Amino acid sequence: MNVIITKGYDEMSSTAFEVMKEVVTRNPSAVLGLATGTTPLGLYERMARDHRENGTSYREIRTVNLDEYEGLDITSDQSYVRFMHEKLFRYIDIDPKNTNIENGKARDAARECARYNALLEDMRQDIQVLGIGSNGHIAFNEPGTPFETETHVVDLAESTIRDNSRLFARPEDVPRRAYTMGPKNIMNAKKILILASGANKAKAVLGLVEGEVTEQLPASILQRHPDCTLVCDEAAASLL
Ligand code: F6R
Repeated sequence: MNVIITKGYDEMSSTAFEVMKEVVTRNPSAVLGLATGTTPLGLYERMARDHRENGTSYREIRTVNLDEYEGLDITSDQSYVRFMHEKLFRYIDIDPKNTNIENGKARDAARECARYNALLEDMRQDIQVLGIGSNGHIAFNEPGTPFETETHVVDLAESTIRDNSRLFARPEDVPRRAYTMGPKNIMNAKKILILASGANKAKAVLGLVEGEVTEQLPASILQRHPDCTLVCDEAAASLL
């Protein structure tokens, strides 16, 4: 694993942007695997600014997102489909038809997972952006998820519900279940870019980089990926 430690969040975001820009410039029809959450916001801001100021085009780019809350869709402020629109897609020239995410309101969950797995088979990610949960989750693959798992519906861990409750009006509004790509879909990406910022991620980052590869810390599987870059700030790297 290639580990890059930066001073703070801004430098982490700029470094991540350089990696992303290289992928998009080299292949203007690349498949980008994208994440939501607080961590990639600085990266998305830089992509939007670069599009505005330098004209980097996303017209032929396709995207696949990691996860979506069950029961939420574009009409909900907290849905991830809405997040991607608000934080990135509205600022770049991507064709909405080329953006993909699980349908949180699908009537048949098993069918929705099968649809997403088939789509991911056809659209192998040229780069997959990841954040990391304080419990070491990637996407919504909580500790204990078998590494061979593909897209599935998960019961979110209490710690994840707590971490994510800051984005909801009341903690009881946080959905308890979500659709997520599995570790297997993530590992299929040609390149992984995982970002971490802040002291609350330090323990998970330690496990990611130096720990035993174990399903108890889902991110640790990335040690087996041939092209994985971790960009993290000093606080997140403080236990390395
Ligand atoms: C988001 C996702 C999650 C987050 C993780 C970190 O699509 O899959 O795994 O990356 O929970 O979240 P933040 O960045 O908010 O600390």
